[in-house]
Amino acid sequence: MKLFIDSAEIKEIEAAAKTGLIDGVTTNPSLVAKSGVKFEDLLRRICELVDGPISAEVTAMDSVGMISEGKKLAAIHKNITVKVPLTFEGLKATRAFSSEGIKTNVTLCFTAVQAMMAAKAGATYISPFVGRLDDIGHAGMDLIRDIKTVYDNYGYKTQILVASVRHVEHMLKAALIGGHVATIPYKVFEQLLSHPLTDSGLARFMKDWENAKK
Ligand code: G3P
Repeated sequence: MKLFIDSAEIKEIEAAAKTGLIDGVTTNPSLVAKSGVKFEDLLRRICELVDGPISAEVTAMDSVGMISEGKKLAAIHKNITVKVPLTFEGLKATRAFSSEGIKTNVTLCFTAVQAMMAAKAGATYISPFVGRLDDIGHAGMDLIRDIKTVYDNYGYKTQILVASVRHVEHMLKAALIGGHVATIPYKVFEQLLSHPLTDSGLARFMKDWENAKK
């Protein structure tokens, strides 16, 4: 399973990248706004830190605007994946990007039918938001299962990029279902290896080792 970091904070991306375990980065307008860094500068820096797909979202609402914005973003670096919203305008832009070989990440997916339409438009990635579905009392992971079934039924090549991940359990479930990628906030990245028995076991090994030397 590929692992992306869902962040626009350079310090977080740098720390995660240093582990050698990160395959890509996703950003969104909210994260970029919070970072306070100029979008293009931010993308250039992220591309220096991580050699993998870097999602950069368009903010136009119409396909013509999205295509023009997306082409400028894609020109920044070969690893830029243009992120577009799951609307008819977004899918028109996705189709255009796909025919020009520009990679896309179709975002804000909340139903398997939306995901199927994105695949038909030639999306490289589909981003279903599991956490936001959980927030409103739905089972976000059911969506991942449904999309996987639909994509497998028809052999769609679009990769499932599990987004809005809130905890390690989300990542486990996504992997069990066969999601291609999970994009996770830095807070969850830090928790990936945490287990009290790992900590206590290591402390015990070290203590025994020191005692044996006495
Ligand atoms: O970047 C898209 C997605 O991961 C957002 O997550 O936590 O704002 O629902 P969240």
